[in-house]
Amino acid sequence: MINFVTTNPGKVAEAREYLDESVEQLDFDYPERQAADLATVAAHGARAAYRHAGEPVIVDDSGLTIDALDGFPGPYSSYVEDKLGIERVWELAEREDERSGAFRAVIAYCDGDSFEATPDPVDTDRRGQDIAVEARADATTDEQVDGEALPVRLFEGVARGQIVEPRGDGGFGFDPIFEYDGQTYAEMDTEEKNAISHRGRALAKFAEWYETADR
Ligand code: IMP
Repeated sequence: MINFVTTNPGKVAEAREYLDESVEQLDFDYPERQAADLATVAAHGARAAYRHAGEPVIVDDSGLTIDALDGFPGPYSSYVEDKLGIERVWELAEREDERSGAFRAVIAYCDGDSFEATPDPVDTDRRGQDIAVEARADATTDEQVDGEALPVRLFEGVARGQIVEPRGDGGFGFDPIFEYDGQTYAEMDTEEKNAISHRGRALAKFAEWYETADR
């Protein structure tokens, strides 16, 4: 059994489409680290959730990147959605000649064990370890206090498209301003979106590894 750490039941339903293993929603509100990349945020969340649950967990972190705006809003997508709203993000993109962008999702998996060597990225928590060794006296977080490497395996999915004026009433978040192959995410039904979406691609990679890996 895998715990999907999220407050969004839609994500859990999506994961079940990809995995034979049973997936349960774990509504654990881990302290989200603000960082310049999705992988760091997801890995941090997976460690915190594993420490909380003591069972295998997956955490996903996702966001929209606009090429002409140097990848904005990226890992800050949720904050920007709350503060500005998607109309204003569209207005920023509209001023640019080039409106390409991408949705990215990183799935982080942690079960407390280390992994067989493979080409997939593994975040080994060296940052936490280094801090623990060098500055244990100043440690203020779990990660720093126990100082153990807690490996997290990362799976990334990317969908490239165009930022467009909002269209469509389906989906959530930035769906209406992201166009993939002529349709916005908000114009697709769930099945169509899952088949090509960033999260679907990351889940497919995770499922392929999970179901074949010698864990
Ligand atoms: P989180 O990973 O659930 O925290 O999402 C981060 C931000 O990206 C939120 O503002 C979401 O609305 C947005 N986001 C993530 N995935 C999608 C998606 O598939 N469609 C639209 N917005 C998304």
